[in-house]
Amino acid sequence: MTDWAAKIEELTFRRNAVILVHNYQVESVQLAAGHLGDSLGLSRVAAEVEADVIVFCGVKFMAETAKILSPRKTVLLPRLDAGCPMADMITLDDLRHLKARYPDATVVTYVNSSAEIKAESDVCCTSANAVEVVRNVEGRRVIFVPDRNLGAWAARQVPEKEVILFEGYCYVHDRIRREEVEAARKAYPGAEVLVHPEAPMEVLELADAVCSTGGMLRHVAASPAREFVVATEEGLLERLRRENPHRSFFSAGRPKICSNMKRTSLGDVVAALELNRYEIEIDVETIRGAQVALRRMLDYAG
Ligand code: 13P
Ligand code: SF4
Repeated sequence: MTDWAAKIEELTFRRNAVILVHNYQVESVQLAAGHLGDSLGLSRVAAEVEADVIVFCGVKFMAETAKILSPRKTVLLPRLDAGCPMADMITLDDLRHLKARYPDATVVTYVNSSAEIKAESDVCCTSANAVEVVRNVEGRRVIFVPDRNLGAWAARQVPEKEVILFEGYCYVHDRIRREEVEAARKAYPGAEVLVHPEAPMEVLELADAVCSTGGMLRHVAASPAREFVVATEEGLLERLRRENPHRSFFSAGRPKICSNMKRTSLGDVVAALELNRYEIEIDVETIRGAQVALRRMLDYAG
């Protein structure tokens, strides 16, 4: 049997590499992480880490974000087919149309978007700081792309802003139904209900807390509860169970799986380091524009 862990350790040392892993990755990859976290936390690491090579185990927009924030580093995405369907839902034309229609609006772009869309934006956000960003950007009107659910959630928390939404969504979270959460509440009456803000409003309204994956980890650490219903991708539940063995975590209905997030294996990580694949390349102009929007995002807490 191949000892992937030993191989990865040797290769990361040889290449002066760091392995960044999102909370939705399969458990074996989570366990190989140099840093394991949510989109915002991993962006912060990517911007600051001392390494020649970043291997990003997540989806393409995350590896692109790392490249934009650290353009001199080699950034590798172990699976070329690990994309985020939500990021592909908006085109440059869509965004330019919105900007022409609402010229006074500030464009707030969820990081789940392409580098080109980020470069056309004023500021980026993640699910951890979307509310904070919408609240604090200049002006009364905001164009929020591409996630309609996260945008609607932020708009509800910040009624003083007018938020123009785009019709993008995450196919994993958008499918979560009110009835699933209600049934889980009935089955586990003592449990706290945590919901990711990519879910629809009817589900968010039932939550005890609405948070990013990193926010869920922090919420659980600070909570006295013993049981939790967690409405997000299953990888995060695996991490919660591993790190909190004396507490119980239940999915809201059937486990939610992002197939894109599950593509990367330890073998892919080894191949990435051995063969230098798949290297993220973004043209200088796009990097320059997107970097401004991403650097602004890093100024907001979350
Ligand atoms: P975070 O909550 O970790 O930012 O991730 C949400 C997500 O869906 C990333 O694709
Ligand atoms: Fe994209 Fe949703 Fe998968 Fe996150 S969970 S990568 S938003 S499809």
